[in-house]
Amino acid sequence: MKKMLAACIVLCLEACGDKLDPGAVEDLDLAGQSGTWDEAAQVFAEYCIRCHGANVKGEDRNGAPENVNFDVCESASAKADKAVFLASGGAMPPDDGPSPDPKELAPIQAWIEEGAPCP
Ligand code: HEC
Repeated sequence: MKKMLAACIVLCLEACGDKLDPGAVEDLDLAGQSGTWDEAAQVFAEYCIRCHGANVKGEDRNGAPENVNFDVCESASAKADKAVFLASGGAMPPDDGPSPDPKELAPIQAWIEEGAPCP
């Protein structure tokens, strides 16, 4: 298990180095975005909660930390900046599953700029 974790960390670091382009998020057009949790949650639901879901347990989480859940607003809010950073660089999701195009992160970025409030 420790070995796997180490391999994963190396992989993740490499993926970040190759693909990270935080500018892609800074340049997002946020006009017309509501900046609400509801809109952000839809993006998280599509790409993240199959691992980072409050009801996803054990091996089904694929190693996603138990306390980082993107269907729980308070949890998502605490990790919001990191979520966009990782997702825009292609580091999340870490597997071959569908990953959001940077443009699709606009609802999350707009929510962050509102202070990532929870209803
Ligand atoms: C295939 C399962 C999987 C999917 C899907 C996934 N993640 Fe993760 N996530 C992980 C794993 C495993 C880790 C822990 C290893 C790491 O940090 O790289 C993690 C860690 C994270 C962390 C760091 C948590 C911390 O404690 O700081 C964030 C933030 C994150 N993911 C965001 C996302 C976002 C946003 C999405 C959707 C775009 C997403 N993840 C989709 C598996 C997944």
